[in-house]
Amino acid sequence: MSVVEQLDTVLITGASTGIGATYADRFAQRGHPLVLVARNIAKLEELAARLAREYHVKTHVLAADLTVPAERAKVEQRLRDDETIGILVNNAGMGGGSVLAQTPPDAVQAMIELNVTAPSRLVAALLPRLIARGQGSIINIASVLAIAPELFGGAYAASKSYVLTYTMALHKQVVEQGIRVQCVLPGVTRTDIWEQTGGLDAIPAHMIMEVDEMVDAALSGYDQGEVITIPSLPDVDEWNRFDEARRRMAPELSRDVAADRYKSDIPEDA
Ligand SMILES: NC(=O)c1ccc[n+]([C@@H]2O[C@H](COP(=O)([O-])OP(=O)(O)OC[C@H]3O[C@@H](n4cnc5c(N)ncnc54)[C@H](OP(=O)(O)O)[C@@H]3O)[C@@H](O)[C@H]2O)c1
Repeated sequence: MSVVEQLDTVLITGASTGIGATYADRFAQRGHPLVLVARNIAKLEELAARLAREYHVKTHVLAADLTVPAERAKVEQRLRDDETIGILVNNAGMGGGSVLAQTPPDAVQAMIELNVTAPSRLVAALLPRLIARGQGSIINIASVLAIAPELFGGAYAASKSYVLTYTMALHKQVVEQGIRVQCVLPGVTRTDIWEQTGGLDAIPAHMIMEVDEMVDAALSGYDQGEVITIPSLPDVDEWNRFDEARRRMAPELSRDVAADRYKSDIPEDA
């Protein structure tokens, strides 16, 4: 008798459209059952029905606004309780706060709730169970703005730097326990997110990636075991050199003396 192994269920946030919906399609194609999370229940149900029909996988929808603590708690509960969930894709995100002086405090907070607080809380809810079973994956969607905040994005770029640093710290803590972690840094990708900032017309076509291409590249990086995936970057050594420069500084970053340039007793002609 052949035993068919049940693949892990994948919970994807922001699955109603764009990058999240494309991840849902690709994981369903690979045979994974899905839990799809977003606010728009009609879109989620339509996608869930299509994926179940096309790929013969179980699909569930969970409507939640991840900026609202009581609704976010439903997703956290699901991650804690549903033993079939072994992969989390923290994808839901919003722009905002690009021009810092023109961003109302409540708008900055809502963005941080979605881009920073939600993925952190969802990981905190899921991680103990993944560690107990010694297996599982967490994919966090950041942005290239995490390493290039001057390009665009103000508080949004900063929220994505958090996702990058958080994922690096997470990787260090769980890699020995069988947990796979990946941070994806997309460049400009053609999705509805750009409607919030007036569309993609002002951006040169050679800088815009189609969403299928972006997600397929990110999943290729996942399959290759990458921790950091930058779908656009032609030469991965560019990232490796950047990361190496950062690591080289590490031994000097905390010392019992200040650097000479901050000492007032240095002679002027020194
Ligand atoms: N597109 C790009 O150029 C680009 C580049 C770099 C990084 N990213 C990142 O990629 C991720 C996905 O972006 P996208 O381009 O696919 O954006 P999108 O097309 O606007 O989709 C965003 C998704 O998040 C959901 N969402 C928004 N607010 C939510 C909330 N409060 N609670 C729960 N779900 C919410 C939306 O569904 P509902 O409206 O149904 O809730 C939707 O499913 C984001 O983290 C984004 O920052 C995108």
